[in-house]
Amino acid sequence: MDTSDEWIRSRTGIAERRIAEARDTTASLAITAARQALQRADADPRQVDLVIVATATPDYPLASTACLVQDAIGAADAGAFDLGAGCSGFVYALVMGHRSIASGESDLVLVIGADTLSRMVDWDDRSTCVLFGDGAGAVLLRATEGSAGIRSTLLGSDGSGSRMLYVPAGGSARPACAETVLQKEHALRMDGRQVYRFATQTMADACERVAERAGVPVKDVHHFVPHQANQRIITQAAKRLQVDESRFFCNLERFGNTSAASVPIALCEAAEGGRFRPGEQVILVGFGAGLTWAAALLEWGDAELGRRVSWWHSLGRKALYGWAHVRSRSRRTWRGAIQRLWRLLLPLTGLDD
Ligand code: UT7
Repeated sequence: MDTSDEWIRSRTGIAERRIAEARDTTASLAITAARQALQRADADPRQVDLVIVATATPDYPLASTACLVQDAIGAADAGAFDLGAGCSGFVYALVMGHRSIASGESDLVLVIGADTLSRMVDWDDRSTCVLFGDGAGAVLLRATEGSAGIRSTLLGSDGSGSRMLYVPAGGSARPACAETVLQKEHALRMDGRQVYRFATQTMADACERVAERAGVPVKDVHHFVPHQANQRIITQAAKRLQVDESRFFCNLERFGNTSAASVPIALCEAAEGGRFRPGEQVILVGFGAGLTWAAALLEWGDAELGRRVSWWHSLGRKALYGWAHVRSRSRRTWRGAIQRLWRLLLPLTGLDD
C-alpha cells in the first residue's frame, strides 16, 4: 500500500495496533474484559443487573453482543443490550449505566466498550485502514455513598454528519447483496478531514460543558481520558482548553483507534498505572460516528485497584463461568430436543404447526 510508517506516525501518532486473531470476535474480547473487571472488583456475576456493550462491530446484526456476554459470564438475572454510538459508545453506555443506578433500577451494571474494526475496514483504503485496531475494555458500576463517582454527564449528537463516517450497506437502507460486496460497501467510509474538524471542536466543547455542569472549572480537572483517534486532535483540544497536554492520557501510540474500546482501555491503563489519586477529577470524553459526542466527569474514589482478591473467590468465579457454559449448552440442547419431539408428535395431534 502507498503509505509509510513516517506518514502514519506524524499524522496520527499511531505506531502499533492490535488486530484480533481469527478465532476472536467482538464478543470474545468483551467477555475477556468483562471477566477481568469482575475479578478486579471481586464481584459475583450473578448479581449484575445490566450488561451494556457499546460497539459498532457486533458479532451479529441480531442478536446483541451484550447477550453473548451475559450468557458467558453467567449473569442470569441481568438485562442486556448493545449500544451504537460509534466511538462515543462507551461514554454513552457509562451514562446509561449511571442513570440506571441513579434511578434505583440497578445496583450493579457492567459497561463494556468493544470493537473489531479490523473486520470492517477496506484494507485497500489507506485513509482508514492504517488507523484502527481491535480491543475491549470494561468497567463495573455500583452505587456508593459519598462524593466519588460520576458527577456530571453530557450526551450530544448531530445526524446531519452521519455520512462523514459510516458503513453504507448491510442495513435496511442498503441490504447486503452481491453488488454491495463487490463495491466494498460493507467497509467503513470516512471523510477524515471533516471528522478531524468536528473532533477538535467537539472534544474541547464537551469537556468545558461537562465540567461546568459539575461546577468544576476546567483548569481544576486533573486528568482527561479522551477517545484515542489522533494525537493531533488531542493536542488541539488541550490547546483550546488551555490545559497542559500532559493531563491528557494517551495510549493510541500502541493501540491505534479502537473505537468504542478506546476510552475504557485508556481508563484502565491509566488507573492501573497509578495515575489517579482519590479525590481527583477525571473527564472521559468521546466523539465519533453519528455524529455523536459524550463526556462524563468523575471524582476518582478509592478504587482499590491491585487489592488482593482471595484465590477462593477467583476459583469460585471460574467455576461460575464453567457452570454458565454448561447451563447455556444444556439449554440449547434441551430446546432442540423439545423441538424435535414436538415435530414428531405434531402429526398425531392433528393440530397445525
Ligand atoms: O474514531 C473515529 C473518528 N475518526 C477520526 O477521528 C479521524 C479524524 N481524522 C484524522 O485523524 C485525519 O484526518 C487523518 C489521520 C484521517 C488524515 O490525516 P490528514 O492530515 O487530515 O490527512 P488528509 O486527509 O488531509 O490527507 C493528506 C494527504 C492526502 O494526499 P493529497 O491529497 O494531499 O495528495 C491523502 O491522500 O495524505 C494522503 N494520505 C495518506 N498518505 C500516506 C491519506 N492517508 C494516507 C496514508 N499514507 N495512510
